[in-house]
Amino acid sequence: MIIVSGIQPTGSLHLGNYLGAIRNWVLMQDALKPGDRAWFFIADMHAITLFQDPAELTQSTREIAAALMAAGIDPAKSVLWNQSQVMEHAELAWVLSCTARIGWLNRMTQFKEKSGKDREGASVGLYTYPVLQAADVLLYKATHVPVGDDQKQHLELARDIAQKFNTDFGRELFPLPEPTIPPSSPRVRSLRDGSAKMSKSDPSDQSRINLTDSEDEIRNKLKRAKTDPEPLPTAVEGLENRPEARNLVEIYATLAGTGLAEVLGEFGGQGFGAFKPALADLVVAKLAPMNARYRELLANPAAIDAALAEGAEQARAVARETMREVRDAVGFLGR
Ligand code: TRP
Repeated sequence: MIIVSGIQPTGSLHLGNYLGAIRNWVLMQDALKPGDRAWFFIADMHAITLFQDPAELTQSTREIAAALMAAGIDPAKSVLWNQSQVMEHAELAWVLSCTARIGWLNRMTQFKEKSGKDREGASVGLYTYPVLQAADVLLYKATHVPVGDDQKQHLELARDIAQKFNTDFGRELFPLPEPTIPPSSPRVRSLRDGSAKMSKSDPSDQSRINLTDSEDEIRNKLKRAKTDPEPLPTAVEGLENRPEARNLVEIYATLAGTGLAEVLGEFGGQGFGAFKPALADLVVAKLAPMNARYRELLANPAAIDAALAEGAEQARAVARETMREVRDAVGFLGR
């Protein structure tokens, strides 16, 4: 099992990204068997497909690195680096852009969403974004790629590219990577509106729990979280059409490592006046140690930079080897 995944340094560090992505990386890392490898990188090259303020990009890269390490990504167990330090990502992306077909890219729904009405004004990088993503995983010969639902289409494309490359050049160079949608990744919703995602771009800070929030802030936000007047249902079906209730129960279940039914078994029939403080206790208990570690790490940016440089070194060793095979397959002379 070779696990590869990336996360963009867009600075949105809240309970939603933690439960959605980061926590799953840590769970996968901790379940590695001898011989397995896990490669996790910060996708700063993907980030610049939309303009990023340079100083903010540097800062966000450090912040997400610190958050990942605080959450339990351990350089002794997995490799962690920022993508742009390993130039082979760009090199392989070029070769694969000659394998991928324009028709394939034209079907990508994320490009349509992100480019919106002004397609002609979108960067070329935004259009070829999925090819770079394919390079990211194929460079390390990934077999398993933990991603959210929204990235499944990009992974299918990576498989198509790998398959065509293998066929075109008559060698089994790339294994076909499997998207693994983690079982326990709830789509965490805004605390003010159960129909919207928890997001850093929501103008109301009350809508999200940031990884840097203090205990008081967490308790206050949960106390004021939108709910309905009914008590919690005793069965999971009772959460239907109650998105705010469902969101809070899902957060509880995920953090407690149980299912919705178990949570409702304990709290069903009780009002939010009883449930919210219990949820706050759990969120605080889980986030507080991470929070402290995050602040500690961020206070020493040089150590973060050194950890990423060290990870990049390890990534480069494997990336170089794959590129040797790719250059040989394609017929590039030299090196
Ligand atoms: N596109 C992914 C996202 O926005 C990030 C990403 C970049 C990624 N390269 C990857 C995820 C490779 C998995 C594998 O979430």
